[in-house]
Amino acid sequence: MNNQPIEWNQEQVKEMQDKLLAWYDQEKRLLPWRENKDPYRIWVSEIMLQQTQVITVIPYFHRFLEWFPTIKDLAEAPEDKLLKAWEGLGYYSRVRNMQHAAQTMVEKFNGEMPRDIKDILSLKGIGPYTAGAIASIAFDLPEPAVDGNVMRVYSRLFCIEDDIADPKSRKIFEQKVRETISQERPGDFNQALMDLGATICTPTSPKIEIDPLKDLYEAHKQGRMEDFPVKKKKIKTVPLYYVGLAIKNELGEYLLEKRPADGLLANMWTYPLIETDKKNYTAMEKEWQAYLEDNKEPTLFDFVAEGYSPIDDLFIEHLEQKNLDVVWQKQPLGEVKHVFSHRRWHILLAHGFLKTDSDIKLSEKQEWVHPDNFDSYVFPKPQQKMVSILEDLRNK
Ligand code: ADE
Repeated sequence: MNNQPIEWNQEQVKEMQDKLLAWYDQEKRLLPWRENKDPYRIWVSEIMLQQTQVITVIPYFHRFLEWFPTIKDLAEAPEDKLLKAWEGLGYYSRVRNMQHAAQTMVEKFNGEMPRDIKDILSLKGIGPYTAGAIASIAFDLPEPAVDGNVMRVYSRLFCIEDDIADPKSRKIFEQKVRETISQERPGDFNQALMDLGATICTPTSPKIEIDPLKDLYEAHKQGRMEDFPVKKKKIKTVPLYYVGLAIKNELGEYLLEKRPADGLLANMWTYPLIETDKKNYTAMEKEWQAYLEDNKEPTLFDFVAEGYSPIDDLFIEHLEQKNLDVVWQKQPLGEVKHVFSHRRWHILLAHGFLKTDSDIKLSEKQEWVHPDNFDSYVFPKPQQKMVSILEDLRNK
């Protein structure tokens, strides 16, 4: 459990607003999109600034507005001119989404940026940060615009320990901004935070001596400025590839195997799972996919003509005794994916029938079990998913 971020009273909130805005009035960067509050210009700048530095954006910004002076011009722009305007900025989906949003504005909002935050958010390519930036800067609405800079400043002000790499943390920061944002000058307040984060309250070596909020950072009081923001490293999950074998005998029972007593999912029961490698798995998936394209939907066959299946080779390798005769349904039943904390399983589910004349001895870790009796066995999630695939097909 994280420590609760600290709370401020109204005087502290006012002190922070006054100090931040006074600093912004003195030090704000003179940027072309700050010349007026035209929502179109602010929108264009925010989209360009998403992945690109201010210094690079400036000439693109001027040219874009020359070529497409209004939202209607943008909505009607030919694609090659649109892409030309973005050439060198990269992430072209940004400008395609902008044109889509411009068309929506022409169709639904009289060719203008809507003023309601929900309408702004409904436009293609506009997420919570950009919507908050447009609403506050263009329309003076007290909406948060939380980006990495703002999270850094706020995590230091309030010792917010939540992981900024976790999308769920955004709400906590938005809440703190809502509690502290200037109601009179929300756009300047948000832009001041952006500038402060970009130039003074930096990730390493923050320039605390010239920081207007110096006395307000809880993290500074505790000598822990560089401990914030908290950003946990993503755990890499290792992919593992399996073929899952749902094998039915003439009594309608399926073969189950008990997993080893140690390791992942210890002592639980699954259909036989044969580990394979990515290459094999992809090849098999492709082969099966081609089959599915001809046959559209998988079904459960009661009987299958004999013939070679890519499963045969794999399966024979898996067996201690090599005489378990199975006829494989040529059609795959589906794919199961399951994520554990450090592993990611991909399972292609195959379906087969034990030949009636098979002479088969099971190991002590294997049992034939009728689906009516599955309840008596502990099934891990991937097994439950495989069983569901079969059940869904049977109920079709
Ligand atoms: N980065 C993103 N939006 C910005 C803005 N409005 N001003 C300065 N830097 C920004």
